[in-house]
Amino acid sequence: MTALLAACGAIGQGAGGGPGSTTAASLIYFSSASGNTHRFIAKLGVEAARIPVFSRDETIYARRPYVLVIPTYGGEDGRNSIPPQVLKFLKHEGNRNLLRGVIGSGNTNFGTTYCLAAKKIAAKCQVPHLYSFELMGTSDDVDRVKQGLEDFWKRQSQTRP
Ligand SMILES: Cc1cc2nc3c(=O)[nH]c(=O)nc-3n(C[C@H](O)[C@H](O)[C@H](O)COP(=O)(O)O)c2cc1C
Repeated sequence: MTALLAACGAIGQGAGGGPGSTTAASLIYFSSASGNTHRFIAKLGVEAARIPVFSRDETIYARRPYVLVIPTYGGEDGRNSIPPQVLKFLKHEGNRNLLRGVIGSGNTNFGTTYCLAAKKIAAKCQVPHLYSFELMGTSDDVDRVKQGLEDFWKRQSQTRP
């Protein structure tokens, strides 16, 4: 939490151009080696950029407003629930400034910490927590997120200059 506060308080990559690249994707996501979130994103069929899996790699840099999709890895006590790769990405001021919303992936077996990382980032960066889904998502989740994102960006274009 301290690291997240620092990341959001200090205010800070295309489709998968790799570490150090910039991206114009409107969807940016993190997915660990288990790849559940990656599989969900693939089902959406939209351009999306992946935050590097390895913390040691340089992060990626957003060039336009985007929605962030991230899993939670805290476990039942909820501490350190945000993957360090995501914290590293959000430490970059430009990335924080372009964040418009967060979608969480997780597992309801974790109870109160279900999708906690997305909720924490949304609260600290003052953007909406748009949706939560389990593991690689159901076909209903895919349909809802696809439609929801279309509606979201339409509303954004009407309310923001
Ligand atoms: C060690 C570990 C801790 C986890 N902790 C949580 C948790 O606190 N809350 C939650 O909703 N899901 C938790 N999960 C489930 C993951 O968020 C879920 O499996 C997700 O789909 C992983 O996405 P990825 O495969 O794209 O990395 C945890 C999974 C692991 C392996």
